[in-house]
Amino acid sequence: MKDILVVGSINMDLVINVDEMPKKGQTILGENFNQIPGGKGANQAVAVARLGGNVAMIGKVGQDNFGNKLIQTMNSDGVDTSFIKSEKDISTGVALITVDRSGENSIVVAPGANYEIEKKDIDKAKKLIEYSKIVITQLEIPIEIVEHTLSKAKENGKYTILNPAPAQVLDRDIIKNIDLLTPNETELEILSGISIKNEEDIRKAAQKLIDLGIKELIITLGDSGCIYVNKNTFKKYDAYKVVPVDTTGAGDSFNAAIAVGLSHEKDIDEIIDFALKVGALAVTKEGAQSSLPYIDEVLDFKGRY
Ligand code: RIB
Ligand code: NA
Repeated sequence: MKDILVVGSINMDLVINVDEMPKKGQTILGENFNQIPGGKGANQAVAVARLGGNVAMIGKVGQDNFGNKLIQTMNSDGVDTSFIKSEKDISTGVALITVDRSGENSIVVAPGANYEIEKKDIDKAKKLIEYSKIVITQLEIPIEIVEHTLSKAKENGKYTILNPAPAQVLDRDIIKNIDLLTPNETELEILSGISIKNEEDIRKAAQKLIDLGIKELIITLGDSGCIYVNKNTFKKYDAYKVVPVDTTGAGDSFNAAIAVGLSHEKDIDEIIDFALKVGALAVTKEGAQSSLPYIDEVLDFKGRY
């Protein structure tokens, strides 16, 4: 029995640190080139494993060095990778990432093998869906696979989480099968079609999505924390203060922590507090998977708001 099933992307992140982001047409010199395992799906799976969760992943890599390395690192973190396929003649997903002095990033992803996931790959992994409590996915794989995954998960009575990153407009067939949606403000704006300038706009946008059938939302606000919304609740939580090094992976670790908390059936305040700690810790280290905290670090974390 796996508590959590992740269906999503697996990338090798090629990371360069810069002082400031380059402008259009500009060449700049950066420093510290690193290859770091990433991909929103893989990051979430590894984060769940490090937080003590039981996790399996469905995804695709290419038959190349990056693909082998990425599967190997996921395995060593304890992710069940038996349904990650390696596909011939296509490259593993790659993300080009620049991180500036303030720890903010900009990312371009070439999905490669991630876009070769087919419905039959999900169907073959039927067992994993049946044996899980929670299914979580993101938007770095084909949208029809997201739709198929959510619908199979709901058919089997599972709790579904969609982390809508990178954002795109979703149709009703997807929305109706989402229990928890975890957008940031920009993603919420795209998903709801409501432009967001203040908390009242967030409330309206969230309400619109709830009227369309989403049960709960957690809107992440970066270093301002997050907001939990359901039919009857709208509650803001502050973030823990840390010195940011690299925000890459923070959102993924937050989502993973929410999934782990839900799988333990904790109450929402406790789940969100745990996830905010996890997210804060991920911001204090470089890279995506290289920054995902282990459960002991989270339990030891004496955060302040
Ligand atoms: O969320 C961070 C991730 O986004 C990176 O690891 C990169 O691979 C992109 O998928
Ligand atoms: Na990080």
